[in-house]
Amino acid sequence: MIRESAEITSFWLKPEDGALLPFLPGQHVIVRMPGGGDSRVYSLSSGVADTACRISVRRDPSRDAGFTAMLVDRIKVGDALRINGPMGSFAVHPADSSPLVLASVGVGITPFLSILRSAIALRPTRPIHLFHCTDTPAGFAFEGELQSALRLLPNLQIDVLAKAPRCSEERLAFSQARLDAVRLVSSPLFGAGARIMLCGSPGFVERLGGQLRAHGVADARWTSELFIPAGKAHFQAGSASAGSFGVKVNATLEGAWGDASNLLEWIEAAGYAAPNGCRYRACGACAARLVAGKVEYLPGVTAPTDPGTVLLCTARPASDIELETDIHPIAG
Ligand code: FES
Repeated sequence: MIRESAEITSFWLKPEDGALLPFLPGQHVIVRMPGGGDSRVYSLSSGVADTACRISVRRDPSRDAGFTAMLVDRIKVGDALRINGPMGSFAVHPADSSPLVLASVGVGITPFLSILRSAIALRPTRPIHLFHCTDTPAGFAFEGELQSALRLLPNLQIDVLAKAPRCSEERLAFSQARLDAVRLVSSPLFGAGARIMLCGSPGFVERLGGQLRAHGVADARWTSELFIPAGKAHFQAGSASAGSFGVKVNATLEGAWGDASNLLEWIEAAGYAAPNGCRYRACGACAARLVAGKVEYLPGVTAPTDPGTVLLCTARPASDIELETDIHPIAG
């Protein structure tokens, strides 16, 4: 365990059998406490050549409860965690040399650390332009790791955008500004064909995504993943009880709903991977076909206009339901 900042802690995880599962930089895993029960999704922040997997989690200082608080406060070196995955389409191929423009805020930098560490190991000449937003420019989390990446990746440029001033240092540029789409598309790498990847809070990703669309940037040129603060992506207690509804996915998976956060997590908790990207209403990658029954959406989430389509990441059953989508067993 490594304390990266006042709020972010990294955990290095080694499989009990010693066999690390292959993954793509940017992918995530599902972490469960010993004995099962509650789970949470975390991006891997380690590189493909590291000898252990790393997750880096933000503990919200205003919350004493919740999965991440339990992880940070109770898990000790040597304890066992149950890991499913890796999975997710918010990822790059580590041996690819195509340019990338990355934009993150806070702990949203974690999948990009995986991309940088993997580039150091496999493709050190890959052109990468990282824009990272932080509230605390003095000694922000992973600063040492980014400095080291700058030394090892000759075509890496990092712009840190902060609320407070700090002097720039060689290729680590600081500015007291708010990141917007103009900066992203003004990167020389975007002009050279780079794909833009956004990662962070819903407000950050949705604001920049909206600006990219307004600038006419084609959907194929950018992708995103949202980090949902603990407790925000859940149905309100007291809304219609879904516990006893039955869920069927293809001819493969069938069971009672229970108390999962959403259909995507229900499928994953059953040991299957389903297509997904942002994991919170933005990308449409988790769209499944509703063959029978009704679903309801998280407060504030608009249902797709096609009533036969379900966004798994933000919906749960409102009756017995039957779905069709592409699922396969998760390794781990
Ligand atoms: S995973 Fe992006 S909308 Fe569901």
